[in-house]
Amino acid sequence: MNLTVLKNGRIIDPATGRDDCGDLWMADGLIAAAMAEIPAGAEVIDCQGKWIVPGLIDLHVHLREPGQEYKETIASGTLAAAAGGFTAVACMPNTRPVNDNAAVTRAILEKAQNCPARVWPVGAASVGSDGKNLAEYAEMKEAGIVAVTDDGRPVADSQLMRRALEYADSHGLPLMSHAEEISLSQNGCMHEGLVSTRLGLRGIPAAAESVMIYRDAALAELTGARLHICHVSCEASLAVIHLAKARGVKITAETAPHYFTLTDEAVAGYDTNAKMNPPLRSEADRQAIRAALADGTLDAIATDHAPHSILEKEVEFNLAANGIIGLETALPLALALVRDGLISPMRLVELMSVNPARIIGVAGGTLAVGAVADVTVIDPESRFVFDAAANHSKSANSPFWGWQLQGRAISTYMGGRLAWELQE
Ligand code: DOR
Ligand code: ZN
Ligand code: ZN
Repeated sequence: MNLTVLKNGRIIDPATGRDDCGDLWMADGLIAAAMAEIPAGAEVIDCQGKWIVPGLIDLHVHLREPGQEYKETIASGTLAAAAGGFTAVACMPNTRPVNDNAAVTRAILEKAQNCPARVWPVGAASVGSDGKNLAEYAEMKEAGIVAVTDDGRPVADSQLMRRALEYADSHGLPLMSHAEEISLSQNGCMHEGLVSTRLGLRGIPAAAESVMIYRDAALAELTGARLHICHVSCEASLAVIHLAKARGVKITAETAPHYFTLTDEAVAGYDTNAKMNPPLRSEADRQAIRAALADGTLDAIATDHAPHSILEKEVEFNLAANGIIGLETALPLALALVRDGLISPMRLVELMSVNPARIIGVAGGTLAVGAVADVTVIDPESRFVFDAAANHSKSANSPFWGWQLQGRAISTYMGGRLAWELQE
């Protein structure tokens, strides 16, 4: 028997309502009931002062493989994930080629096999994600996808979106929407507001997002399908999601740490590491996002980890690629919300593990006896600087580079086995 006991940690498990100090037993890949005595041969790890939580799950990462391995690979991306405390990630299909068929899905899963985090592929909603014809959801589902999306761009055509929702729902898959009304956002490179005016950069209004979420929610209501809204950035979108939830629409939504941490002021030095789509918004938007994480309008924190090399980033602001890495800063930035008294540790685990597992319908998100032993051990006190030594991604495009952060994962377990451990 392969037995590990994580001793004397603060066990935080929303699924069982548990938040107390104790030991977590893992036997043969599963969470196990404690025995009267620890048998000889068991591995015993002292977790005094540490949090023991269900393995964190990131609903939204770009692993770039196949096709752009100079930015990230499945191996480097899952290493960054593990180092950030994630035991599983859902990877977006905007690779080259696009993951719009079973062969690509299978290739991704093959590469992910001995990696330090689980990889759940998300298939393209339309062939090539070009918004014209639906992809083959049945064969991709058979190969292992957990959702569909054309992330990177919206499904612009409303009729195609309706059909995508129906088709996804008939296969039990949620549709993850990158909600953007292109006719409002095109040529914009940052949030439309006072800062964009001051900097002389073309803006993207908040309405470019909220208008599309309204359409998506209306179509989810029409079809009864499950809709998940990606990277919510602004207050106007939250109002729409709140309304849709009140109407009983099967809608869930994520935001990313940069939207609750930064505002469009971060763009002021024309730093392309503050450029992503959707863009960083106003302080009022940031405050609304924070409130929505606490009140349940938002269901998850995902990173939208989007690695790019200096080739795409060290160029004029309006020409730079959209996106930032996020796997190794997400947990520390979310822990700041706990320290600010905005959310409880329990709520943090809901946002980063329980709800993500539920949204894409995968195992995990609980420390209940018998569950798969995917576990993250967190040191909430540990301070570190996010720099080259702390970064396992192949890319370094982060607005948090050089930031002093507090709280991080010190180890992760996948199926009861040590998947990653902090070396110091
Ligand atoms: O910032 C972004 N980066 N937004 C997207 O929609 C795509 C993503 C990427 O793939 O780089
Ligand atoms: Zn997106
Ligand atoms: Zn994305």
